[in-house]
Amino acid sequence: MSDIGTRTPATPSAPVSVHDLDLPVVPLDARDGTRDETAEIYHSLSAESWIARSQIGFSILHYDDVTAILRDKRWHNAVAKLPELRGITDPAFIDRPPSILAAEGDLHVRLRRLVAKAFSPREADRLRPFMRDVVHDLVDDVAAAGRADVAVDICEPYPIPIICELLGAPREDWQLFSRWAEDVLRIFNGTALDELDVIKQAQLELNDYVREMIARRRSDPREDLITQLIAAEEEGDRLSTEELVSMVNAVIVGGTDTTRNQLGCAVGVFCDHPEQWALLAERPELAPQAVEEVMRYFGAVRGTGRFASEDIVYRDILFPAGTFVFP
Ligand code: HEM
Repeated sequence: MSDIGTRTPATPSAPVSVHDLDLPVVPLDARDGTRDETAEIYHSLSAESWIARSQIGFSILHYDDVTAILRDKRWHNAVAKLPELRGITDPAFIDRPPSILAAEGDLHVRLRRLVAKAFSPREADRLRPFMRDVVHDLVDDVAAAGRADVAVDICEPYPIPIICELLGAPREDWQLFSRWAEDVLRIFNGTALDELDVIKQAQLELNDYVREMIARRRSDPREDLITQLIAAEEEGDRLSTEELVSMVNAVIVGGTDTTRNQLGCAVGVFCDHPEQWALLAERPELAPQAVEEVMRYFGAVRGTGRFASEDIVYRDILFPAGTFVFP
């Protein structure tokens, strides 16, 4: 393959389009294997090139390019494009106002400002005793047996009670939330197109539930995220009811599978390195570093999506508007 990093464009003023380059290809099953198998595939791709062709765009494989692209505001978050990428044309999925996960520019800055206080480390600390209780209960449930399927028995059920507590949803509604979250998150599955009705129904029910919660908290404020988000104000600006609904959705979409999967990845790493587990048991004050390191070494989210909001020339290569990349 030619060295695309230094490839000479056809004419100095017309950089070659990324679509016309001869690039290595990310195998379709690149992520189906174990951590080491996946790492090996990406390692050998990145030894060959900083960019590879993937199923719906281009994988960006080198640290400096990932950083450059994530910092360049012309690349927009692709999460809102996900339904479209899955072939979904239903306006209920396409025409939604952007949530904080997908917003760009001034809108993103505004949303971040409004929610910054509610998402502070201090607010997370408030929930720590509750988080401990939840995980202790899950471990107690399997402790007598002396064995567990950690992914199923611990990681999977862990986040929902905490998200419910964070939002202020009562305990009796945890099961409901769990089902809605599971169904709404199906949008990330390759089979989303076949499950649209289920996803849509769950989304409608969840949104109605959250709207009702918002109405109740407006007249009866509590110590929960919804109350804080209702009260959040920046220079007279506030979140509208629909923005509040969208924010709650973002918390569910952003906080459920990520947390579950990261917990599973962490336990997996410790299974491979039992001496590190023993060290952590001996010195629990190392937990914050352990979290950082397992996320670095085996992160549940190993990439993200961006699309070119306009024609972008990077490394003398043209990425036409709409091109998807996966840094
Ligand atoms: C270990 C668990 C988690 C992981 C691995 C994770 C990962 C990520 C990543 C990679 C992004 C950036 C996405 C991008 O720019 O393309 C992100 C953004 C975000 N996450 Fe998480 N996340 C986790 C937990 C959570 C939780 C628990 C919540 C909510 C309670 C949450 C809410 C958000 C929000 C709102 C954003 C968007 C921030 C913005 O654009 O301003 N995440 N997360």
